[in-house]
Amino acid sequence: MDFTTGHDGEQSRTGRGLTIGVLGAGRVGTAVARQAVRAGHSVTIATARPAAEIRLLTEVIVPGARAVDSHELRGADLIVLAAPLHRYRSFDVETLRGHIVVDVSNYWSEVDGRLDEFEGALSTSEVLADFLGDEVTLVKTLNHIGYGFIETDARPAGADGRRALAMAGDDADAKAAVADFVDSLGFDVVDAGPLAAGRAFENGTPIFDDEFTAPEIERLLHEARLPAGV
Ligand SMILES: NC(=O)c1ccc[n+]([C@@H]2O[C@H](COP(=O)([O-])OP(=O)(O)OC[C@H]3O[C@@H](n4cnc5c(N)ncnc54)[C@H](OP(=O)(O)O)[C@@H]3O)[C@@H](O)[C@H]2O)c1
Repeated sequence: MDFTTGHDGEQSRTGRGLTIGVLGAGRVGTAVARQAVRAGHSVTIATARPAAEIRLLTEVIVPGARAVDSHELRGADLIVLAAPLHRYRSFDVETLRGHIVVDVSNYWSEVDGRLDEFEGALSTSEVLADFLGDEVTLVKTLNHIGYGFIETDARPAGADGRRALAMAGDDADAKAAVADFVDSLGFDVVDAGPLAAGRAFENGTPIFDDEFTAPEIERLLHEARLPAGV
């Protein structure tokens, strides 16, 4: 299968035509959705509000994507969870159940307010996974790239200096699917290991704070004593 990235006509190694649901139509949700449309995926986007309330925004900001009610994200190959972490208790868990969910969220006490459950040793994704339950397969990635760079930093597979994103999750098949998706968006992917390893690329870490290639992220994970793939 062939796949185009953000650079029209250039091919990356992954398949075209996934169905991608995006929950959250803010800065990062719309940027991921736009890039996913560009990559040839079929994209639906929802918030906690009725679809009618984000239809115009979607048409203007994410042409090619379809605004839906959140329950209509069900059945997507991947659901990108791009809503603020402090709202997690209001996420539509029923819809997420049975899906691979790409967790792009970060905890910022300044923005989210202080939440004790995110102040401890667990990664934010582990806390979220505990809340969402076993039937939701979380894969953490895309959290350490600013929304404004998702389109501008994308490069075709194999391009010199291609930016990489770290990924963490407990399910190997889910990670493989998410890695292909992120590659299709225009980024290399470095498997940091299980969901707990997500701590190594959260807010406040060296990986979070700058842009890196895959070998550089591997080195930083090693320095954080969380070698890639562990
Ligand atoms: N901004 C970035 O550059 C960036 C990059 C990577 C990761 N992130 C992380 O991604 C998450 C979202 O950030 P953002 O900057 O995109 O936020 P944002 O611009 O504030 O957008 C949040 C979106 O989520 C929706 N939402 C709120 N509560 C919801 C719920 N319960 N269910 C479904 N949708 C809900 C909002 O809809 P309403 O307008 O109706 O409230 C809005 O569309 C945060 O955890 C952030 O740390 C951000």
